[in-house]
Amino acid sequence: MTDQTIVVSDLRDAPHFFDSVADRVWRAWWEPHGFPLDHITGLLRASLAEDEEQLCLVAHAGDRFVGTASVIASDLEERPDLTPWVAAVWVDPPFRRAGVGGDIVLKAAHAALDTGADTVHLCALPGKRAFYERLGWRLDESDVGEDRLDVFSMGRGSHRRASI
Ligand SMILES: CC(C)(COP(=O)(O)OP(=O)(O)OC[C@H]1O[C@@H](n2cnc3c(N)ncnc32)[C@H](O)[C@@H]1OP(=O)(O)O)[C@@H](O)C(=O)NCCC(=O)NCCS
Repeated sequence: MTDQTIVVSDLRDAPHFFDSVADRVWRAWWEPHGFPLDHITGLLRASLAEDEEQLCLVAHAGDRFVGTASVIASDLEERPDLTPWVAAVWVDPPFRRAGVGGDIVLKAAHAALDTGADTVHLCALPGKRAFYERLGWRLDESDVGEDRLDVFSMGRGSHRRASI
């Protein structure tokens, strides 16, 4: 742990965290399915483009990586009509259970709604249901796809501002 304040930056403003974000997201969601690291670096590079609809947030304590969340156009092949999504939410273990995950998720949702979307979506394993519902996400569906995911949404006006 560090006593430095944790702040959340757009990866465009803190690009030196690119490799840390890619590493965590790859290890958590892509490596187990046999995808090479290059696959995720390619996807993440799109978050650095000046395209408001896709972005990556990074939580950091000074130069130490803490966590990340992204806004992407599409996250669930079973629901191709829904967009945008908050995805790839990760907090490094030493920083968990201190509110960082909740804050970065809400900041990402807020950023997505600020681009003009009426609703932002998120999918998660059922074990995370209490975490997301407590943050104000509405459970729209459960048991979706092979992984039996929950699908949540948050509408403009119903989201709370994040506090980091
Ligand atoms: C899920 C994840 C992002 C949560 O990050 P986090 O920083 O621990 O999130 P928070 O601290 O905001 O909330 C986590 C829990 O700690 C609790 N908490 C928050 N602040 C707390 C505090 N000061 N003291 C004690 N508990 C606290 C929250 O109430 C929440 O409880 P819940 O799990 O019962 O809902 C993190 O565990 C993680 O990266 N997991 C692996 C990747 C993953 O599963 N990502 C989600 C994919 S959908």
